[in-house]
Amino acid sequence: MLLLRLSTTVLLTATCLLLTADFSRAWSGHKVVTCDDANVYRLTCNTGVINVRSALYGRVNSETCSEGRSPQQLANTSCFQQDTLEAVKKQCDGRKVCVLDMTVIGAFDPCPGISKYLDTNYTCVPPAHMTACEHSLIHLRCMGERSIFVENANYGRQAETICVDERPYPEIENTRCISETTTQILADRCNGKNTCGIEVNNTVFGDPCPETYKYLTVSYRCQYRTVACEDSEASMKCGKGHIIYVYSANYGRSDQTTCASGRPESEIQDVRCSKFSSKVAESCDGKNSCVFSASSAVFGDPCVGTYKYLTVDYLCHGSS
Ligand SMILES: *[C@@H]1O[C@H](CO)[C@@H](O)[C@H](O)[C@H]1NC(C)=O
Ligand SMILES: *[C@@H]1O[C@H](CO)[C@@H](O)[C@H](O)[C@H]1NC(C)=O
Ligand SMILES: *[C@@H]1O[C@H](CO)[C@@H](O)[C@H](O)[C@H]1NC(C)=O
Repeated sequence: MLLLRLSTTVLLTATCLLLTADFSRAWSGHKVVTCDDANVYRLTCNTGVINVRSALYGRVNSETCSEGRSPQQLANTSCFQQDTLEAVKKQCDGRKVCVLDMTVIGAFDPCPGISKYLDTNYTCVPPAHMTACEHSLIHLRCMGERSIFVENANYGRQAETICVDERPYPEIENTRCISETTTQILADRCNGKNTCGIEVNNTVFGDPCPETYKYLTVSYRCQYRTVACEDSEASMKCGKGHIIYVYSANYGRSDQTTCASGRPESEIQDVRCSKFSSKVAESCDGKNSCVFSASSAVFGDPCVGTYKYLTVDYLCHGSS
């Protein structure tokens, strides 16, 4: 029975993808719904990388995933887990494929006894890609006021055809060389900067496979970031003929320096306060410029007593 349900869900997921995906275009919107008796949840981008726009775990209508459920299991249609958007964004943004463990997503049950589902909308955003062979120098670059944000990187080898350079076969045959720390190392060095030059070698990245001639692959985006202190307004603006695409909006506090001047210690101590929201995207996407209020009245208060700020990361793209 469970197996049967599972395969129906997987089929449903696949159908949804086919219906809403337009693989020939970047920036296409996708929607995936998975019922809570499935154990995995998969988001995929054929072109570009995943950017999660909204995510809901719970139940807000009685139709979705209602097959085989009793009326009691569908009784509450105003049930959703807080922080689902943050959880899904953290695991999926910037990847081409993202497989979520439903038992992790459903670890905190917002409404016991009710049958729930995970409903996600995401876009496939074209990132900048770069590849550089071991011992070379790589330069990431963003034009204008945009800054680098590393989505994903690997120092290792995953193909026999890249960075061959007349190397003996034993040095290129291992195509399963992956280094989990590469993304973080690059992010620490390059995020927030305009340009970033890095030598591609073992000193910088460590050596995930000593016998192999390696290379670095990076995908990154060039984004604008605007920060607005609590009770002020965040403003976004794109050049002529371009429109805003909000990549991520987070209301809270993650360091002790932003929006800290003149504030008592107690109001800036909690740096683990965040609330990711799709509200900014809903109101600003597609506009040339936009102003959005950074206040708890809009987002709810994720940490009472802490002085918060709104951080919006956005892209600008041609409107045609
Ligand atoms: C996903 O998008 C659809 C259509 O735009 C919308 O009806 C739905 O509420 C969205 N899902 C979430 C979780 O916001
Ligand atoms: C539905 O679940 C939410 C979240 O647990 C709860 O706050 C609400 O009171 C429930 N509503 C009904 C009608 O049971
Ligand atoms: C790797 O690059 C760094 C500079 O970023 C340099 O100091 C170091 O000597 C290089 N290591 C090797 C093994 O080439």
